[in-house]
Amino acid sequence: MTIIEARGLTKRYKSKSGPVHALDGLDLSVPRGTVKALLGPNGAGKTTTVKVLTTLTRPDEGSATIAGIDVLADPRATRRVIGVSGQYAAVDENLTGFENLDMIGRLYHLGRAESQRRARELVDMFDLTAAGDRPVKGFSGGMRRRIDLAGALVTNPEVLFLDEPTTGLDPRSRLSLWGIITDLVKEGTTVLLTTQYLEEADQLADDISVIDGGRVIAEGTSDQLKEQVGGHRVVVSLMTSDAREEAVRILTRYGDGEPVVSSDGRTVDVGVTNGPQSLQSVLADLEASGIELHDAGMRRPTLDDVFLRLTGRSTEVNAGDPDETAGPSGTKPKKPKKPKRSKEKAA
Ligand SMILES: Nc1ncnc2c1ncn2[C@@H]1O[C@H](COP(=O)(O)OP(=O)(O)O)[C@@H](O)[C@H]1O
Ligand SMILES: [Mg+2]
Repeated sequence: MTIIEARGLTKRYKSKSGPVHALDGLDLSVPRGTVKALLGPNGAGKTTTVKVLTTLTRPDEGSATIAGIDVLADPRATRRVIGVSGQYAAVDENLTGFENLDMIGRLYHLGRAESQRRARELVDMFDLTAAGDRPVKGFSGGMRRRIDLAGALVTNPEVLFLDEPTTGLDPRSRLSLWGIITDLVKEGTTVLLTTQYLEEADQLADDISVIDGGRVIAEGTSDQLKEQVGGHRVVVSLMTSDAREEAVRILTRYGDGEPVVSSDGRTVDVGVTNGPQSLQSVLADLEASGIELHDAGMRRPTLDDVFLRLTGRSTEVNAGDPDETAGPSGTKPKKPKKPKRSKEKAA
């Protein structure tokens, strides 16, 4: 049974350089009790979609229902069945974790006793017991996200919206948040989350909609999307770019589709279905041809690979994500973007 349904959502903003189509005919359909990921690079329209579905902004065209409620006609009823955790944690810095949750309960008219009971329960559930009675000011990035997510759950919503829940978090906090989301889904909550990471969609989502330019450009499970670019990618770094053409010929032999050559001509990679087998064959052929390697290895496809295949363009969103772009061991992305972390303090 479908619990979130959106048809033809369109949203235009004015900007200095003319109108921006934040949404351009976006369709979505999410079955009850499942996790849907909206996967796309910066500016794809993810946040705008979440804003429309959570009644924070109105679309120019299109329609949406959540749990049978018409989002545009009845925003108040819609708000009663949803919870939202934004891209930027919205908590009161001077209140403690517990107080923030208690305050949300009061705003939703849960009553004093029930608000406190629920706040205590969530603080425990989110492993914030030790920090629950300290002001949020001193919280680490991971703790902020957890308290923000807890805030979205105060009213026990049927449908939860998570806008880039782990962007900017360190790998450990990301894993901990993934665990929490997975537990929620087991209890029957429907989740719509947005992300720039194929890996995250892979871990959490039953179904993924890849979005670009305000519309859905591909849909399917993570496996279906990855199949489009091969289950793995074999990557070889050459000692000199002279060997490039021969390397491309060899990778073409074992790859699905065209190999991709880096701009400096020294790294060649290709999607393959059987990673380890293909890597061995590629290495054997390269050796037989006397090609010297700087490095070689396999990696999982990233959003960038999927995106390149679908659109012919690169997203460049993964340039700073060490989990996603780690090429063959030792090859580091050239310009890692350092995620800004505001005053990270250990708990
Ligand atoms: N309030 C706004 N005013 C003007 N342009 C906006 C506004 N909100 C979003 N946009 C533009 O709409 C597009 C989609 O934005 P957004 O939905 O935030 O994308 P995402 O969340 O996928 O990064 C972008 O080009 C963005 O600059
Ligand atoms: Mg966004």
